[in-house]
Amino acid sequence: MTGFFDLRTGHEQVIHGADDASGLRCIIAIHSTALGPALGGTRFFPYSSEEAALQDVLRLSEGMSYKAACAGLDLGGGKGVIIGDPAELGSEALFRAYGRIIESLNGRYITACDVGTFPRDMTHIARETRWATGGPAELGGSGDSGVLTAWGVFVGMQATATKLWGSDDLSGRHVAVQGLGKVGRRVAEHLLEAGARISVADVDTDAVAQVAASRGVSVVGVDEILEVEADLLSPNAMGNVLNARTIPGLRVAGVCGGANNQLGDRSDAVALRERGILYAPDYVVNAGGVITVSDELHPDGHNFERCKAKTGRISDTLAQVFAIAERDGVDTETASESVARSRMEMGTHLRAFHLPDRQRND
Ligand code: NAI
Repeated sequence: MTGFFDLRTGHEQVIHGADDASGLRCIIAIHSTALGPALGGTRFFPYSSEEAALQDVLRLSEGMSYKAACAGLDLGGGKGVIIGDPAELGSEALFRAYGRIIESLNGRYITACDVGTFPRDMTHIARETRWATGGPAELGGSGDSGVLTAWGVFVGMQATATKLWGSDDLSGRHVAVQGLGKVGRRVAEHLLEAGARISVADVDTDAVAQVAASRGVSVVGVDEILEVEADLLSPNAMGNVLNARTIPGLRVAGVCGGANNQLGDRSDAVALRERGILYAPDYVVNAGGVITVSDELHPDGHNFERCKAKTGRISDTLAQVFAIAERDGVDTETASESVARSRMEMGTHLRAFHLPDRQRND
């Protein structure tokens, strides 16, 4: 088995935690705290091995560093994974034990929901640690983060349109929307309001039915959506949707969607560039979620309008990413990583100014 040290990933800290009584087996990875405490959700998933869980948490936590940095947040990147089937193992005891492990990190890691964890789980975690966000709205949580994630995707599409066609006007444009869940359904609504035409697909026929009745919507099969001839493709379902198998079949000018980890690997960003398809990097586009949950940490509590304003700036960040990619002749993923890294370097540099009355861990 490959250990953390062998991987040389540049992460600051990785901890393993276990509690035999509740069945908890977890790994928390802190990629970077250069800009602030490492925030990222907890994924509860039946990983095939400890190594698979480690690989996932390392990859996801690094992505969170770049996401927070590009979103202009004073947050670092971290992520937690709990190994097992949430339906079988998820219990108050397990989440409280997990909360205690988070508390032991003294604020270096802040958790939130991810695949397999839900607002009610955060309430259990929050009984043991202050460092949990994403609880239910009725208990002071920020509510469904899909609302602003979708808004970020929409403003990201406007920035993509501006780069491609010189105007952010999406009226009359045709967008293929994959996935109509919490994010995709709202992306579809924003597009229709803006006068765009959409083709949609989802494996869930109820989700399709909710959107299909509106004017300007064509329903296509889940196997066809990636090959629809359109102006833009918006992946809002699962990851690894842009890969060596799918990229040759794309018939769009740009890709902008909310799904995490859309690229199979880095070479796929290059392949998109070579095909002349403008890719809006997923972690830049889908930062509305982290902007929403992190606002719970604001001294005055969560404020939707403040979050919406911050999410609106995703279009400026994307414009910057596109400009760097063009200037340097690189793919947009490489460009967005350089935007993130330069903010992280700024964070590290700022620590050189000693502030005597700040906490020692600042
Ligand atoms: P969701 O679970 O509400 O919706 C996902 C939808 O995709 C479901 O309707 C599902 O039936 C559909 N789907 C699954 N496989 C599909 C396939 N092969 N073809 C077409 N549709 C398929 O999830 P949510 O919250 O809308 O998230 C969507 C994506 O956005 C995920 O990748 C998620 O990680 C990412 N994301 C979500 C954020 C949020 O705030 N909800 C924040 C950042 C990223």
